[in-house]
Amino acid sequence: MKSLHIIYASTSGHTEYVVSVIADYIKQHSPDTEVEVQRCEQATAEDLARGDVLLFGSGSWNTGGVEGQLNPEMYVYCKKTCKDTDLAGKPAGIIALGDDRYYYTARSGEHIRNFIQSHGGTVFGQTLTIVNDPYGQEERIESWAKKFLEHLQDL
Ligand SMILES: Cc1cc2nc3c(=O)[nH]c(=O)nc-3n(C[C@H](O)[C@H](O)[C@H](O)COP(=O)(O)O)c2cc1C
Repeated sequence: MKSLHIIYASTSGHTEYVVSVIADYIKQHSPDTEVEVQRCEQATAEDLARGDVLLFGSGSWNTGGVEGQLNPEMYVYCKKTCKDTDLAGKPAGIIALGDDRYYYTARSGEHIRNFIQSHGGTVFGQTLTIVNDPYGQEERIESWAKKFLEHLQDL
């Protein structure tokens, strides 16, 4: 049995919605896979040790006054809460949201990738990038979840 631990930030609920579509898809298509979902405000550095695979989700934000950054809560989690954490080779996937009104569209994915790689983790699968409202994009999200699940089962 495989397990997935999802850690996300969400201010207006978009990332939370995307995460819920993925979690529901996996629970429905692979009841044996354990899926745990956690907001980053409630997560500690020790939570990074949970799950066979981690999955991070964050929208893009103008944290610190510059566009194309992490959501402020994910910024605190990655840069402060977990600044000294070693992922020790752990596989971790990426969900990045953004809006095409911004020049640095969905750039949060690059920051998450940088976090994973600079903390000794391994990027797992393809990044799921959702531009603009996720509502109506369920088919794309589920098709990504299908591939992610296959990859997880192959571990
Ligand atoms: C203050 C603010 C700054 C934002 N900055 C960016 C940005 O730099 N790049 C981008 O692609 N989207 C940006 N967005 C759009 C959000 O990333 C997008 O709406 C996302 O879906 C929000 O997800 P959430 O509701 O889960 O937090 C910004 C939104 C707000 C409100």
